[in-house]
Amino acid sequence: MCGIVGYIGSQQAAPILLDGLEKLEYRGYDSAGIAVYDSGEVSMAKSKGRLKVLNEITHGGETMPGTLGIGHTRWATHGSPSDINAHPHFNKEKSIVVVHNGIIENYLKLKKKLEKKGYSFMSETDTEVIAHLLDHYYDGNPLRAVTKIMHRMEGSYALGIIFRDHPDELYAVRKDSPLIVGHTDGGSIIASDVPAVLKYTRDVYFIENEEIVRLKKDSMEFFTVDEEPIEKECVRIEWDVNAAEKGGYEHFMLKEMNEQPKAITDTFSPRIKEGKIVIEELNMSAEEIQDIDKIMIVACGSAYHTGVTSKYVFEGLARIPVEVDLASEFRYRKPILNERTLVVVISQSGETADTLAALRESKKQGARVLGIVNVVGSSIAREADNVMYTWAGPEIAVATTKAYSAQLIALYLLAMKFAYERGQMKDEVLQEMLEDLKALPSQVEMLLNNKSKIQRFANRYLAARDVFFIGRGVDYAISLEGSLKLKEISYIHSEAYAAGELKHGTISLIEEGTLVAAVLTQKELYKKMLSNMVEVSTRGAFVLAVTNEGNTEVERAADYVVYIPETNRYFTNSLAIIPLQLFGYYIAVGRGCDVDKPRNLAKSVTVE
Ligand code: M6R
Repeated sequence: MCGIVGYIGSQQAAPILLDGLEKLEYRGYDSAGIAVYDSGEVSMAKSKGRLKVLNEITHGGETMPGTLGIGHTRWATHGSPSDINAHPHFNKEKSIVVVHNGIIENYLKLKKKLEKKGYSFMSETDTEVIAHLLDHYYDGNPLRAVTKIMHRMEGSYALGIIFRDHPDELYAVRKDSPLIVGHTDGGSIIASDVPAVLKYTRDVYFIENEEIVRLKKDSMEFFTVDEEPIEKECVRIEWDVNAAEKGGYEHFMLKEMNEQPKAITDTFSPRIKEGKIVIEELNMSAEEIQDIDKIMIVACGSAYHTGVTSKYVFEGLARIPVEVDLASEFRYRKPILNERTLVVVISQSGETADTLAALRESKKQGARVLGIVNVVGSSIAREADNVMYTWAGPEIAVATTKAYSAQLIALYLLAMKFAYERGQMKDEVLQEMLEDLKALPSQVEMLLNNKSKIQRFANRYLAARDVFFIGRGVDYAISLEGSLKLKEISYIHSEAYAAGELKHGTISLIEEGTLVAAVLTQKELYKKMLSNMVEVSTRGAFVLAVTNEGNTEVERAADYVVYIPETNRYFTNSLAIIPLQLFGYYIAVGRGCDVDKPRNLAKSVTVE
């Protein structure tokens, strides 16, 4: 959940570190710090709060000379956000300094042992243990010290390490937390994620689990935990550098919402060829697809919501049983899997700890794992048996929008492919659905163009205390996402319910003025939804409805109606989500919230 960077080269390190941290701030923003080696000493600047505070203290890094340094932006796990707990962390002599992303699970045990040996601790963090542990094992050979601590630490870590006595070297190591390294012009750089290095290089190495890298100004060497040298292949990153910039928008979230038509097109167009769905990455023959007897979808947060949608789509179209699980629950419930189960793990970042653990558990049990992933080269992408990328491009705002939309498209394609290959879908139905799919980008664009209407509506509800989202079938799935979008960025309490559930308890919370967002896009559930809307409005609720064009009857049961254009019944989530995203966004903006970096959150959740 934190972001780390490191630089060694011929340029001043501090401004490069701060620049990299700015690109990684989405990973955590409780505090930030940098450490730089210069003239025999390592100096450090760190501070609670956003990166801009650190930028001010160091005048954009100018006050810290030196060409070797490491930096960190934190999402607090052990110890509150404070100057003391901010990284980097030192050993006592200030000769070894460390930044860390991850969690050292056995840190208390290690801490006790170190305390018995006379080490004392300044912070409450698990990371400080690493600095002292390195000190304990360091005998003049940094690589040896690094491998020794790796044998003793349990948990996850991506580390950047400077040894004052080796000022021509920067060490980095990873286990279960992402890390990339690359050469720059006259230097070498490490980072938790690609956007931090794109300005300097497009050629990067993805560090694998338990690999160590020793970077010098003009070289880098890779080692196993047994100090064996290894060869690694460089990967060319094709992203547009501007994709990770705001490009004139007030927020990344607004920019990314507006990028949804492109994300949708880029995700489906390479996979539709001559009227057929071709998912080469799936690497499954028609017989293998027919042989699958269960699909298990596992993910977290919004990615989980796309899984809920796709359960309806898969079961409806392909007539194959689907289970959807929260990744944090999955492996603890002893799931029943075998070689005929297809496990689909969905993740924007490809680094979500619970989803990654679910993937590993599934593979262990012999299931085939397909990853639907946005970040190229991420852990889930590399460990899944097959990976289907969502081509949404870099997503920076903590609240996902375009990656969510691209995930839906990937799942529709997969469900249609399964339906077709299993003989459940006729060719003419496939062609009709493909036409509807191709129409989605312009329909999404049209809904986005209506944003000022939603903004005006949102402005009336800035003081809302509770919001309930209701729907049935796929509209229940979209309610889950609409509710999450609103609460995570506006801090307004909201919940989503399958509309039929209201009467089983929740309706007692409805009172005069409670806002209820009702989604009704499914013809056969339309009448039932109308009844549910009347039930809440007669109890005083103010009802916002999202429904299909032509459903004007809804206006009698709702106070405000947003219409979505006609599409296939299984694709309506892709349209209904747009007004709900805009609603959440404008409420958050109107309430003065930090839309792109909501409190207590981070973009990629790399701890369980
Ligand atoms: O990177 P992932 O897709 O695996 O992330 C999963 C969730 O953490 C993520 O969707 C989260 O719920 C977002 N903040 C939602 O906007």
